[in-house]
Amino acid sequence: MIIAIDGPAGSGKSSTARAVAARLGIAYLDTGAMYRAITLKAVRLGIAFTDDSALEKVMTQTSIEFEGAAPDTRIIMDGEDVSAAVRTDEVTRNVSDYCARDVVRKSLVSQQRLAASKGSLVCEGRDMSTVVFPNAEIKIYMSASVNERARRRQKDFAAMGVNKSVEELEQEIEARDAKDSSRANSPLRKAEDAVEMDTTGMTLEDQITFIVEKAKPYLS
Ligand code: DC
Repeated sequence: MIIAIDGPAGSGKSSTARAVAARLGIAYLDTGAMYRAITLKAVRLGIAFTDDSALEKVMTQTSIEFEGAAPDTRIIMDGEDVSAAVRTDEVTRNVSDYCARDVVRKSLVSQQRLAASKGSLVCEGRDMSTVVFPNAEIKIYMSASVNERARRRQKDFAAMGVNKSVEELEQEIEARDAKDSSRANSPLRKAEDAVEMDTTGMTLEDQITFIVEKAKPYLS
């Protein structure tokens, strides 16, 4: 069984998907973290997002793995735990440019499909239900108002010791949404057969229960 969750930044995908995977005892795949890891590596190496041949090399020379059961899954790049490093402001500001490149997407999409071939999975990203797993049993499109998403991001940053205003975060979120939704390759959009979930004002528990209930008929 595949539960595919898509939606814009801060819509609640990660916390919900992690908790659903933990409750159902199945794997969790954070595909945004994969795009972030490649961005981190490229930025560290000083590779421009327009340099496709260098990026192609990066894709063949980088290992990305997940360790640990949900909700405490860690992302390991080339043997290094980069779970915190992929969440920095620098990676967040750059990821939309790197993730739009064909060479990057092609490689990560095949790694994502490989992960699904190993068993049931909750995955989240921007193109899970439209491109990567169009036959997923459960498809969810999560959204929330920009203000609500900025407030959630502000809390995440505060936990990392970074202070940012809601207004600044709203602008960043809108800029990233625009890039993620307008790119030519696998833009963020709701699959026709996805269930839309507006999480503005919903509690995390409501979100988890909603999806777990949908998954129950598929559990043997
Ligand atoms: O969900 P996130 O904020 O961690 O995702 C980081 C970026 O990766 C986001 O700006 C869009 C991109 N992304 C993507 O293009 N396709 C996915 N399946 C997941 C994320």
